[in-house]
Amino acid sequence: MEITIRHLKAEDSEAVHQILSGEQVIWGTMRLPYDSLDNTRRRLEPSPGTIQLVAVLQGEVVGFAELITYPNVPRHRHVGELNLIAVRDDMSGKGIGHKLMEAVVELADQWYQITKLNLLVWQDNVTAIHLYRQFGFVVEGTITDYAFRQGTYVDAHIMGRARPQKNQKRQSQQEFGARTPVNGLATAI
Ligand SMILES: CC(C)(COP(=O)(O)OP(=O)(O)OC[C@H]1O[C@@H](n2cnc3c(N)ncnc32)[C@H](O)[C@@H]1OP(=O)(O)O)[C@@H](O)C(=O)NCCC(=O)NCCS
Repeated sequence: MEITIRHLKAEDSEAVHQILSGEQVIWGTMRLPYDSLDNTRRRLEPSPGTIQLVAVLQGEVVGFAELITYPNVPRHRHVGELNLIAVRDDMSGKGIGHKLMEAVVELADQWYQITKLNLLVWQDNVTAIHLYRQFGFVVEGTITDYAFRQGTYVDAHIMGRARPQKNQKRQSQQEFGARTPVNGLATAI
């Protein structure tokens, strides 16, 4: 089963609308039942700092993830928020969420210089919490009565993940000696 991850395209909006309209997805997120395709289209419009990924399986868009970054906020640009991750209800439990998380974490760690990832998850969403823990997220706090769902209030955990320390470069510099400065600058690689 080959799952590929790519950025959202304009023509994906109906498939993403279908994903975001699933019963389990509404249960696990802030989505409302009977939401319109137009609302979803507006929701998906490109916005600076927002990275929207889809998971594709056998030509069908079956998952969606959104990472929010703050490139224009100097004191917050090291932070990213996983704003939404959702897999089409009939496709859950097949590793699609895991693939999307891999892509989000790789982007954050290896390309966007994000050192802290945060997210909110309903305290009873065991599947999502299990998935996030696999990627190093820990519960940092709980907000009571954060959202209204099916007639009752639900608490939300704030989960966070610090980028793992990568000392490889420093180690290799120690092993082979610091690079020779040229005119006061380190040599270009
Ligand atoms: C949460 C969600 C994104 C996970 O995606 P998925 O494709 O179903 O998850 P995966 O198949 O990648 O499985 C991830 C892990 O969760 C585990 N899992 C699945 N159902 C579980 C359950 N009921 N309880 C505990 N763990 C569960 C899987 O076994 C897997 O763990 P493993 O690798 O140790 O076996 C998906 O279920 C979803 O869209 N839920 C509705 C929307 C939602 O709640 N989003 C999160 C908002 S914070």
